[in-house]
Amino acid sequence: MHAGQTIVATQALYGTTRDLLVRILGGLGVATEFVDPTDLVAVEAAMAKTGAPVLYVETVSNPTIVVSDIAALAAIAHSHGALLLVDNTFASPFACRPIEWGADLVMHSATKYLSGHADVLAGVVVGSSERIDALRPILVDVGAALAPLAAFLVLRGLPTLSLRMQRHSETALDLAAWLEGQDNVERVFYPGLPFDPGHEIAKRQLDVFGGMLAFELKGGREAGRAFLDAMQIAERTASLGAVRTITTHPPSTTHRQLDAAALAASGIAAGLLRCSVGLEDVEDLREDFERGLDAARATLAKGGGAK
Ligand SMILES: Cc1ncc(COP(=O)(O)O)c(C=O)c1O
Repeated sequence: MHAGQTIVATQALYGTTRDLLVRILGGLGVATEFVDPTDLVAVEAAMAKTGAPVLYVETVSNPTIVVSDIAALAAIAHSHGALLLVDNTFASPFACRPIEWGADLVMHSATKYLSGHADVLAGVVVGSSERIDALRPILVDVGAALAPLAAFLVLRGLPTLSLRMQRHSETALDLAAWLEGQDNVERVFYPGLPFDPGHEIAKRQLDVFGGMLAFELKGGREAGRAFLDAMQIAERTASLGAVRTITTHPPSTTHRQLDAAALAASGIAAGLLRCSVGLEDVEDLREDFERGLDAARATLAKGGGAK
């Protein structure tokens, strides 16, 4: 990218990636136009209007679990002579290989499913030799070199990726379906659910639906806080894709850089909780969620959390 150019990026995006685009690249004169990746007409219009050389999306977005139609987005990008860049972290290469659907460069935070054990910080970029050869000098210049121990830890995780992803997906589907039936859950976001807006694309594009789900509690922030406080198994921390279940409140953690308007534009409600479903026993997890839901209900009964 050069100063004066624009990137077209998905509105539903990992908060720090959004910050990188807006603050860091914005400060260097590269503008970003945000679009809803499921609105292909809007994507087409943004590409035509801006002449962007890059379209940037996430296979499954953070934190509202929106599924992007990579083949359709690749066709739009390529018709404008642009590259499609895909962050495939939430899906992992077990669930989706975006290059098979036309993406040009694919990024993974290997901190997540690839390593699987939440004990390393690492990243991977995948593409043709020609594109990776062009990237290598930049990685050297900015110091983005992987330490040997970090590389070892990612490699140690890979042989169990398939087993972990299958188990994450089975348990997440079970929990998502169960959450959907709860009276104080406003909405569940999981592409494995038949009525999820991303279900049809996910069936085509993902080999498993993945371990990431999100849900909105009735009662907003207060209910969300009570839910997290009551949980005994799920860890309350950032990150995802680990053997242990992690529950986060995106507005105060991963997306803390976003103000109220940017949160609303990204579809992030005050009571949104994001869950990276781990490998624990599904019955134990359901019990833990039940504890959380009971605590959230109690805030409603007290008349709190009306917003
Ligand atoms: C979708 C996505 N991409 C990239 C990252 C950045 O990963 P890392 O922590 O390895 O820098 C994250 C971290 O949460 C993420 O959720």
